[in-house]
Amino acid sequence: MSVVTLLPVDDFVARLRQFPEPCFAGTEQILRFLEENPVAPATLEPYLFWDARHYTRNLIDKTALYELIAICWDIGQISSIHNHREQNCWMAAPIGRLMVQNYRVLEQDLKRGTCRLEKTDAVEMNREHPCAVNPLAPVHKVCNQREFRARAVSLHVYSRPFDSCDVYSDEQQTCGSIGLSYTSMYGERVTPA
Ligand code: SIN
Repeated sequence: MSVVTLLPVDDFVARLRQFPEPCFAGTEQILRFLEENPVAPATLEPYLFWDARHYTRNLIDKTALYELIAICWDIGQISSIHNHREQNCWMAAPIGRLMVQNYRVLEQDLKRGTCRLEKTDAVEMNREHPCAVNPLAPVHKVCNQREFRARAVSLHVYSRPFDSCDVYSDEQQTCGSIGLSYTSMYGERVTPA
């Protein structure tokens, strides 16, 4: 039986900071790092902020190469279908379970705000199964399904950091760009502007 050692988030950050730039260009090495270094849930406590209306985005660490955020998902909360502005993204779920639904973009015209999408695969993310967003098919949504009956927290490594993305509605066949913001930074709630 293999014993999994849970890493305090500060140690996780210290190790993540050791990776040189080329490791963030592909997805394999950081994905292996996430698989081999699950974070101890209790150590995330300073970064967890909850909002009944929307999932929260909480900055833990940011360098020129990457940002690490914790996202708090109340039961039933769901992201928009979105991309990551051509940045790589890795996700782990140290607390709870989340479904990642991927999409193929059949057509997209951002100027006109129109698109056509098709659902592809869906994967469950949990403590044993982190995942990397496929750079060739990066459009997805994340959902804390009601039937999971529990809050969830995911860790996201984005390389490089980005502050806007494209969002899609498959029902209305529309798309557009939105700005992204943090609910908290380094454990302090951000005051809304
Ligand atoms: C977000 O960063 O706001 C969405 C979560 C994701 O990366 O899927």
